[in-house]
Amino acid sequence: MTTATIPTHTAGPELSDARFDAARRPLSAVSGAEILAPLIQGGEVRYANLDYGASAPALSVVSAYLNEILPYYASVHRGAGYASQLSTSVYENARNIVRGFVGGRPDDSVIFTRNTTDSLNLLAGCLPVSGGRLTGEVLYLDIEHHANLLPWQGVPHRSVVAAPTLALTLARLRQELARGGVSLLAVTGASNVTGEILPIRELASLAHEFGARIAVDAAQLAPHRRINIAADGVDYLAFSGHKLYAPFGAGVLVGRPDWLDAGTPHLAGGGAVRDARLDSVSWTTGPARHEAGSPNVLGAAALARASQVIEALDEQQWHAHEDNIRSFLVEGLQQIDGVSVHHIFEDADRADGPGTIGVVNFSVAGYDAGLVAAYLSAEHGIGLRDGRFCAHPLLKRLGLPAGSLRASFGLGSRLDDARRLLAGLQELRENGLGWDYVVDAGRWVPVNDTRSYPQWAPNTPGTAGAAPCTVD
Ligand code: ALA
Repeated sequence: MTTATIPTHTAGPELSDARFDAARRPLSAVSGAEILAPLIQGGEVRYANLDYGASAPALSVVSAYLNEILPYYASVHRGAGYASQLSTSVYENARNIVRGFVGGRPDDSVIFTRNTTDSLNLLAGCLPVSGGRLTGEVLYLDIEHHANLLPWQGVPHRSVVAAPTLALTLARLRQELARGGVSLLAVTGASNVTGEILPIRELASLAHEFGARIAVDAAQLAPHRRINIAADGVDYLAFSGHKLYAPFGAGVLVGRPDWLDAGTPHLAGGGAVRDARLDSVSWTTGPARHEAGSPNVLGAAALARASQVIEALDEQQWHAHEDNIRSFLVEGLQQIDGVSVHHIFEDADRADGPGTIGVVNFSVAGYDAGLVAAYLSAEHGIGLRDGRFCAHPLLKRLGLPAGSLRASFGLGSRLDDARRLLAGLQELRENGLGWDYVVDAGRWVPVNDTRSYPQWAPNTPGTAGAAPCTVD
């Protein structure tokens, strides 16, 4: 296959602008950085992965580490053999590494789960109870990802609509907390829709002022900012390995052990008990209470190894890399006719605000978001997410009930990925679509898609069952 010509961009900053020097090359090596994507009109290009916010590629260091330990993989906590002992030590040591990574208190529990959603569901089963009833309500904002929204709908809860500024949002939360009866404030560390960071230290002290605890959904924050839960006063923190460059099926919940040791075991089964009888059980305490069944040792090991790599990054260089890509992209998008960039708060990205991570949300007037995403993939080899980002209440309130587009990036990204997105959007505005598209199984797909895919790919787009509806 031939290499396709990539259009140049003219809207937005010059690629050569020295303000963006920090982002010319990937900051860390990741798997798949050079894979080629076939184009609908022929030829292929380097795949521009602008979908880190959904799932980030594996750090090369992480995949090399997994290859190294894989031969020693064996049962965890259950065997006296050499490999079992090694696997158990890798797994238990991963807890200490993760505790250090988030600045946890020495007695914090570090529980391995499947992902952030799993972690927050686990916490929902551990809210304090007295006399058989939950002692308080959970308070959350309307900007949350469903992972930090739906678990609380099954317990007493209240929600607050976020205001146009963070300052006003904090005032609204204060008012609600002052009414009393809140046991937990559950809040995102950074919006998965817009990338805006929330002031978690201030939110923690607000919650504590009214006798509540705080849980932070750090799925988006942890891959982009250093976190110190002890210093910030965060009681519970949840995040996922697959967004932290360790896509091997592990997530984590870190936090104060008292609620977790008394709560409903997340999974009933082997390893979570002190003693089991035929019709009754005495549950153990500590992380094991919630980790029944054989644990995902490789997932936990990968997550811990990725944490170490991120911890070792030069913070200034790390932030400059991602901020450069973001500014380049936002400045460019703002100059393309008909493209709007969305945000929740007016003050998050101000010089004195908490800032934004590598996520940019936008729409293109006159085009369905899913159609733009299909066009960018088929005609430009660019991957990004469209839809409602599992944050339906927020999208509705932002006036985007049919969804929008999200470009997200991180350690393996480069300025050129953003440049290609700008060029693709500019071409769309100037020349329209270069191919016909239809909706098939809820997704926009190119008509007569003859692109070739690797032999191992079980299905190709457009074939039955290949593309489940993912406008979520
Ligand atoms: N929660 C992930 C996202 O925001 C999948 O895309």
